[in-house]
Amino acid sequence: MKILMVCLGNICRSPLAEGIMKTKLTGDFLVDSAGTISMHEGEHPDRRAVKTAANHTIDISQQRSRPITKDDFKTFDKIYCMDASVYKEVLSRAETEEERQKVLLFLEAAGTHGNTDVPDPYWGGMEDFEKVYQLLDKGCDAIVSQILV
Ligand code: 4NP
Repeated sequence: MKILMVCLGNICRSPLAEGIMKTKLTGDFLVDSAGTISMHEGEHPDRRAVKTAANHTIDISQQRSRPITKDDFKTFDKIYCMDASVYKEVLSRAETEEERQKVLLFLEAAGTHGNTDVPDPYWGGMEDFEKVYQLLDKGCDAIVSQILV
């Protein structure tokens, strides 16, 4: 099973989602992340995301931002999008029905009630990053329990 986490810049939400998911899925899994924009390509995650992960003993400092590619739709089995606008953008780039079916809204797939967007913490503070961490941690638990049945 190969899982791709996707947000806008691939420096805040999806790097956290990648780091969290990697701690929960060990064994024959590939977990990676990407963004829909290439503005931050090659950069490490936002320092607030790195600090938030470190507060939970997860090291995401060596990740590098990259934009999603056509190949990702072939390589990955599940492509989890962090919010509705990312979902719409990623879906628009899928070229076949098989590729479209891989594209999922992360919190919807996790079965979380209420808001299905992981809020963008980029313009916020550390407390916003912690809230995102908690949403992602619970969401990853739910998704892992579906995958491991
Ligand atoms: P992310 O957050 O999509 O969670 O990585 C953002 C990163 C960068 C920007 C916006 C959101 N930006 O406008 O550069």
